Amino acid sequence: MAIILTGGTVVTAVDCYRADVRIDGEKITAIGYKVQQPGDECIDARDCYLFPGGIDPHTHFDLPVGATITADDFASGTRAAAVGGTTTVLDFATQNRGESLARAVANWHAKATGNSYVDYGFHLAVSELSPGVLEEMACLPHTAGITSVKLYMAYKDVLQVDDGTLLRMLLLAKELGMLVCVHCENGDIIDVLVTEAKAQGRTAPKYHALTRPVAAEREATARAVCLAEVAGAPLYVVHVSSAAALDVIREARGKGLAIYAETCPQYLLLDESCYQTQDFSAAKYVMSPPLRPAANQAALWAGLCEGSLATTGSDHCSFNLVGQKELGRDDFSRIPNGGPGVENRFGLLYTYGVAAGKLTLNQFVAVTATNAAKLFGLFPQKGTLAVGSDADIVVWDPAVKTTISAGTQLQQVDYNLYEGMTQIGKARHVFLRGQHIVNDGRLTDDAPAGRYLMRRPYAAGGDSRVSV
Ligand code: URP
Ligand code: ZN
Ligand code: ZN
Repeated sequence: MAIILTGGTVVTAVDCYRADVRIDGEKITAIGYKVQQPGDECIDARDCYLFPGGIDPHTHFDLPVGATITADDFASGTRAAAVGGTTTVLDFATQNRGESLARAVANWHAKATGNSYVDYGFHLAVSELSPGVLEEMACLPHTAGITSVKLYMAYKDVLQVDDGTLLRMLLLAKELGMLVCVHCENGDIIDVLVTEAKAQGRTAPKYHALTRPVAAEREATARAVCLAEVAGAPLYVVHVSSAAALDVIREARGKGLAIYAETCPQYLLLDESCYQTQDFSAAKYVMSPPLRPAANQAALWAGLCEGSLATTGSDHCSFNLVGQKELGRDDFSRIPNGGPGVENRFGLLYTYGVAAGKLTLNQFVAVTATNAAKLFGLFPQKGTLAVGSDADIVVWDPAVKTTISAGTQLQQVDYNLYEGMTQIGKARHVFLRGQHIVNDGRLTDDAPAGRYLMRRPYAAGGDSRVSV
């Protein structure tokens, strides 16, 4: 028996039209009129949009950081994702120094297998590129289905890599058809500023932001772009937070370089004033890069519209204020970095993008799903509504208004970055490969059905541009 979604408006990155959608098993098998046969189950989607399930290309579930571990694991994180309209996440399988890549990948499979409510893939976050690790890289695309890596230019002595390592990785990734994702902040600048701040007795959370200036992001972005240009390799800049870094990306793209970039709802909607509380609660906003002056936000929205910013990731990396962020009560540099958002990314982009007139419906789909699918080897299986694609579908009711609150969220963390903000629209139904995982806005009782995604290479030879 098929499921027919009737009377809705189908939205992709390029189209917007009224049609019924037929789901047979895991796939979309027809889009149009009269796609129904006797015995099919019909779900009324009148007055709703049918969006491709969101793809969040940037999550950290079950990630150990120093003496603690993220508050959300794959189970709680992906339940929250599903209810918010996201049906695929790409999580960072993170290599500890001295660990093989195979071990890191196996660790992440152990965390996710049987626990994920949405489909998932892994990027590999590489912390060192020893000769053994270089050899292992070649196996990633084919045996592990991992076609992107992340390197950090910040987090000195923990994850930070030097320019030589980054260049070697870009060269290798180009050969293997992999996409290199980079955290662009100059970790040496930050290290000096943090040491100085602490020596002066500056311990409050706001010093996290003051020791990670925009210039450190701009410089590292320019350096990463330069290294990608030298390597002739594509580059994906994660979590762009400032207009200055975006300018570097726009200029590079203008020269024809294959530079792609992501921003996050927190940089589009929150600003540095969040650090100005007298009490420790500003620790909720300790993330890297930090929140920036509000003037950056208009530039980031414009970047999404014009395509200089291709995707939005939540960078969901949640720590409770009580007991976890508190580890840095007397020293801001010990506050675990990151914030929650996987549940809210899709709805925030709809509310403050589409409903606010800043993004078209097509742009919304592009930056919440399609472009990530294209860049990370999932398109057109994921990221669009087309015959033959996975039936990952969000039936979005634009008439519902809710207030975002930690009290009602599924994210398993004791705060929400967007507390009190309005969300316009809600995922009334969500289908994951045809399975009805959210019904009438609520997660069904089904066991976690998320499947690991073996992703295709970015582009053989790495020198062709992906059209995003
Ligand atoms: O503060 C953040 N963003 N934490 C997560 C790790 C990262 O740098 O993406
Ligand atoms: Zn990062
Ligand atoms: Zn991150």
